[in-house]
Amino acid sequence: MNRVKYKIRHAILSLCFGLIGFLVLTGPGLMAAGSAERGASISLTCAACHGATGISANPEWPNLAGQHEKYTVQTLKAYQAGDRQDVLMTGQAMSLSGQDIADLAAYFEGEQGAQNTADPALIAAGERLYRGGDRDKSISACIACHGPAGRGNWPAAYPSVAGQHASYTAKQLRSYANGTRKSDSNQVMRNIAALLRR
Ligand code: HEC
Ligand code: HEC
Repeated sequence: MNRVKYKIRHAILSLCFGLIGFLVLTGPGLMAAGSAERGASISLTCAACHGATGISANPEWPNLAGQHEKYTVQTLKAYQAGDRQDVLMTGQAMSLSGQDIADLAAYFEGEQGAQNTADPALIAAGERLYRGGDRDKSISACIACHGPAGRGNWPAAYPSVAGQHASYTAKQLRSYANGTRKSDSNQVMRNIAALLRR
């Protein structure tokens, strides 16, 4: 009889630990699911700089529309951690909860991305480097990660760079090159940008 009781108690305990394990494993995943609807309503504070639908009028302020959710989450957390720093943006990121970040990222991913805004005189040289890299300087082709149309790679969280303001993009490449932007794992962009500057 005792043995049966022991078995029952053992079974209940295993079930409890199993349930705790399940919640621990799935908890962060469940929390990370963003609500685009809530994101839209809290994005009003972002609109002053990033535009009503994530397309900004000032070329120093990045477009957010159409950007991959996973990248946006990651990069907002990078501002919180200090791996990215900016006088205007750091304070904005600090005030966001994990759920706010997930919701905002879901909202911006669903908005229509911006069209090209670059100086037509510079496009050809940039496109050559983007598609072919530079063998002499050992620069990898950007297309390998950012994709044939510059739309990035969703599962890998490689950001979309298409239609982004040229001056914002240039500032990021300089920040990687001088090491002030440290949000790239394995220093992937810091290494490439350092070669670009040579
Ligand atoms: C006062 C102006 C301002 C406001 C308000 C603002 N931002 Fe920003 N944001 C910036 C600037 C400037 C940058 C570029 C900073 C840099 O070079 O790292 C930026 C960068 C970003 C980036 C990085 C984009 C990329 O492609 O990596 C994200 C994401 C972002 N902001 C989201 C938000 C969200 C969400 C809000 C609202 C909660 C917001 N911002 C409010 C000015 C602002
Ligand atoms: C091996 C993959 C890889 C290659 C090749 C690569 N990138 Fe990146 N790039 C990334 C990743 C990953 C990130 C995001 C890192 C982070 O979160 O800071 C990124 C970020 C960027 C950003 C910042 C985007 C933003 O919204 O702030 C720019 C700009 C960029 N890359 C341009 C380039 C250019 C130009 C080239 C080619 C000369 C290039 N990349 C080649 C992987 C790559």
